[in-house]
Amino acid sequence: MSLIDQHGRTHRSLRISVVDKCDLRCTYCMPEDQHFLRREELMTREEIATIARLFTERYGITKIRLTGGEPLVRPDVVDIVRDMVGLGVSVGLTTNAMNLHKHLDDLIGAGLRSLNVSLDTFNAERFKQITRRNGHGIVLDNVLLALERGLRVKLNMVVMRGVNDDELLRFVEFTRDRDIHVRFIEFMPFAGNGWGRDRVYTFSEMLGHIGSVHSYEKLTDDPHSTAKAYRVPSWKGTFAVISTVTEPFCVSCDRLRLTAEGKMRNCLFAREETDLLAALRRGEDIAPLIEANVLAKHAMLGGLPPFRPEKQEEVLHDLSARPMVSIGG
Ligand code: 5AD
Ligand code: SF4
Repeated sequence: MSLIDQHGRTHRSLRISVVDKCDLRCTYCMPEDQHFLRREELMTREEIATIARLFTERYGITKIRLTGGEPLVRPDVVDIVRDMVGLGVSVGLTTNAMNLHKHLDDLIGAGLRSLNVSLDTFNAERFKQITRRNGHGIVLDNVLLALERGLRVKLNMVVMRGVNDDELLRFVEFTRDRDIHVRFIEFMPFAGNGWGRDRVYTFSEMLGHIGSVHSYEKLTDDPHSTAKAYRVPSWKGTFAVISTVTEPFCVSCDRLRLTAEGKMRNCLFAREETDLLAALRRGEDIAPLIEANVLAKHAMLGGLPPFRPEKQEEVLHDLSARPMVSIGG
């Protein structure tokens, strides 16, 4: 059986946050006073496997992405990756790559083939301002290491006006000789992240900026892709834009999410969630909860108003109380 919502969309992709902690504190993701879950509140490895098996075997989910917080701060993350690969679905992991060198061989051994790395700048000082920590050199080394080992690597850059919007060309340049996929993400609103519509460096501004220096060609996107992909002709890598704010792609959305404490969300911007873990721990059947959660999915942006300048106050007022770090990328 497939998970189809009230608007007819079939869901094939599940993001599972395995921990809400992170070893960085990116300003756009984590409020300064963020408090974290206790260990007994997190899903155990076995609980994650049980829930993931239900989603894949019963509901036809074909893609699982493990996220956090930062998934590599969880001690049994490699085992969890192995469990997910064992379900026979495509498995990805989103990481800040701060500790990737310590786990890379084991992750590959567990069957991981694809990584999304968050990196917002090529400037070490700026890295420190954005992430409130040091570590730019390590992250960059680890990106290159992952490429060397043959992983498929996507580089996620959150573009914020006046913060790092002057670095787009540097990121595009990074795709010249490397088989890497850079994704420029429009700055999205979450609780406590200082979002304002004027801080969004838009999709059209990005293409204008890049196009003033490079010619580029459009690539064919996967029908459920959130990213619009391009390539500078003859360059090895690609770049793409994730335009959640100015051109949301909700119509073709096939994603569901599970927080680290086992709450299911049908949208990144959802204001309602379903506690699967509590029901599982009580020994109840969670299948009806999953089906009801998907069915209720809003047509767009979790029911928030469109992220247009004149709606800014309404958006900020109606946002879910969860910051991005506890939703899971
Ligand atoms: N806006 C856009 N992207 C964000 N991410 C985290 N917070 C935001 C935000 N406010 C990105 C991270 C990570 C991905 C999962 O989501 O950079 O790469
Ligand atoms: Fe950590 Fe990623 Fe959030 Fe930055 S964006 S604080 S690296 S979880």
